[in-house]
Amino acid sequence: MKIFVTGGAGYIGSHTCVELLQKGNEVVVIDNFDNSSEESVKRVEKITGKEVKLYKGDVRDGKLLDKIFSENKIDWVIHFAGLKAVGESCAKPIEYYNNNLYGTLVLLNAMRAHGCKRIVFSSSATVYGTPEVLPLDENCKVGGTTNPYGTSKYFQEIMLTDVWKSDPEWTVVLLRYFNPVGAHESGLIGEDPKGIPNNLTPYIAKVAIGELKEVGVFGDDYDTPDGTGVRDYIHVVDLAKGHVSAIEKITGTGVYTYNLGTGVGYSVLDVIHAFEKACGKKLPYSIKPRRAGDIAACYADASKANKELGWKAELGIDEMCASLWKWQSMNPKGYSKG
Ligand code: NAD
Ligand code: UFG
Repeated sequence: MKIFVTGGAGYIGSHTCVELLQKGNEVVVIDNFDNSSEESVKRVEKITGKEVKLYKGDVRDGKLLDKIFSENKIDWVIHFAGLKAVGESCAKPIEYYNNNLYGTLVLLNAMRAHGCKRIVFSSSATVYGTPEVLPLDENCKVGGTTNPYGTSKYFQEIMLTDVWKSDPEWTVVLLRYFNPVGAHESGLIGEDPKGIPNNLTPYIAKVAIGELKEVGVFGDDYDTPDGTGVRDYIHVVDLAKGHVSAIEKITGTGVYTYNLGTGVGYSVLDVIHAFEKACGKKLPYSIKPRRAGDIAACYADASKANKELGWKAELGIDEMCASLWKWQSMNPKGYSKG
């Protein structure tokens, strides 16, 4: 199949391109490199020995999308392109809504114009807001989001569902990711955050390599086994494979919603200790106040994806940390310095 991957140079997009290509699909990517670089696409080609057809540009550029759909007979769109930093979204709601909502509208418009009606959308566990029960299954209440990023994901799910309601020939797959971490086993592609990382595992990796002094643990007084925040960390390669399973297994029309997680929750301290094992050294950390907007615990019931897509996360926390450490050690400056 020919898959159009928006944001395909990014962290999850690049790993998904690898899995798609390795399964014999053709891949067409659009990326404006707002949060990535062309180097990741070259590395995807190096890992797979296959070519990625790359269009440099913005998903909000309707003319460019028209050209892409005219030049390529697309079977499925996987829509990763967007902005994703929770904190930044509170400071820049206009930019976030513009990119995430308007970007999706322009894309849907182009898809409709070219009769391409199958889309997989990168949603997030954040749409569940503060969980009322754990583990979270797909029937749990959504909405009640606490930041513009999360709200944009929630709105996009609604927009996509409304498009299907207006035309039941559409296939809309909403994949709600939990916490993607780790990197490809080759060490050639991985997460390359700009500046000081907001997320836990890239921060730990930078402490391990000596670039940052210590890990700040945001709160140790949550109602969790060791008092620190608990999340469902999922290896990015497992996550990428979830997309391949979705496009292989889903043949009907409709709206399909799946959690992609492991079902297992790890605390901040668990992750620090797992990373110590991976890098073979003690990592300094200190307890800091809670981070605004954080919840105590969040983990998935991922049984629906297992039952319907035949997909299950295979890799555990040790593989997540080992692969991240390999990527970080091989690319201390990310993609910028080879
Ligand atoms: P990323 O920033 O690495 O990837 C997004 C890519 O989209 C980048 O390459 C960026 O340059 C590109 N992009 C952004 N706006 C664009 C535009 N208007 N036109 C063209 N390209 C554009 O982020 P990621 O972690 O790979 O996330 C991919 C998707 O998954 C995002 O939609 C994100 O919200 C979602 N998601 C991520 C996480 C996570 O923790 N990483 C969790 C849940 C959901
Ligand atoms: N944490 C620390 N220190 C840090 C960074 C994080 O203690 O330096 C803690 C947080 O308080 C939280 C846990 O580590 O308990 C995970 O935090 P992350 O920032 O890595 O991830 P979040 O769960 O906050 O959010 C991530 C993405 C969102 C996405 C969500 C899906 O950033 O975009 O997962 O569950 F929506």
